[in-house]
Amino acid sequence: MLIIIVNIANNTLVNHSRNPLMYVCICNDVKEKQIKAAIASGIDTLDGLKDTLDVATCCGCCEPMVNDYLEEHHAKFDVLAYAV
Ligand code: FES
Repeated sequence: MLIIIVNIANNTLVNHSRNPLMYVCICNDVKEKQIKAAIASGIDTLDGLKDTLDVATCCGCCEPMVNDYLEEHHAKFDVLAYAV
């Protein structure tokens, strides 16, 4: 199921679906699965994802969602750092 929330305050679209095949960046035809794979391979910055996948390089509506994936990824390492 595709769940898109329109934030009228800052004119962005946020995709709240959790389907690995869902499109995150409609402008550049990039799916969640591709973003997560890139992050897992070590491309864990917004600029790196922009360079590699072209996400958030057109209208920018997907940037908040891409940042959510990055924050989610980095939060895992923060928890591991505290555990050591
Ligand atoms: S939806 Fe990603 S740049 Fe437009």
